[in-house]
Amino acid sequence: MDGLFITFEGADGSGKSTQARFLAEGLRELGFDVVLTREPGGCPVAEKIRDIVLDKNNTDILDITEAYLYAAARAQHVHEVILPALKQGKIVVCDRFIHSSVAYQGYGRNLGKERVLEINKHAVDGCLPDITFFITVNPESAFDRMNEQKERDRLETQEQAFYDRLFKGYLKILEDEKDTIIPIEAKGTKFETKEIVLAKAKAILQEKGLL
Ligand code: TMP
Repeated sequence: MDGLFITFEGADGSGKSTQARFLAEGLRELGFDVVLTREPGGCPVAEKIRDIVLDKNNTDILDITEAYLYAAARAQHVHEVILPALKQGKIVVCDRFIHSSVAYQGYGRNLGKERVLEINKHAVDGCLPDITFFITVNPESAFDRMNEQKERDRLETQEQAFYDRLFKGYLKILEDEKDTIIPIEAKGTKFETKEIVLAKAKAILQEKGLL
């Protein structure tokens, strides 16, 4: 594969979507051909699955169904958007990917990491991120940011215990994948965080001989 696959992870309210957008813009300014996309979603079929999975009226979705829905959206997204872009040598910046399933469904929903990886194996078809930026904020600021939103989706209306498991799950993933996941502590303004992420990305591109 010739391109570079960069993902952003973090809890709801961590500001990772803004950082994904900033990085895509920063890399474009450096002359790279960048595809900015997101999960769940990123292509028409996957966006429809997103509507189902985030609809808070769907109170009866089983945890296992939820895991398959995210994986189904991912299969479509990988084959329709991510793999073709990487094959054309582009940089793909994706807001959430498989680590979100491990964190939310594996740890948050208690389905277990192994089961979630098994479900996702065929969906990702070997397409895994080269680099993942994991935006960390303390859980209180994430909650404050979520509370500022007018509408919460289905995943944002869970009980506190779910978020505790999710937070610990993300830390476990970080511990397990130290080589490819870069933790970014979002302590300052979003613009300060943007500069930190861009500097790290540039260093990696230089290391890989791409810059
Ligand atoms: P977003 O708010 O970052 O767009 O993500 C939508 C929600 O979907 C968020 O609460 C996290 C959740 N999610 C999962 O539970 N599993 C997944 O695999 C993905 C990609 C997202």
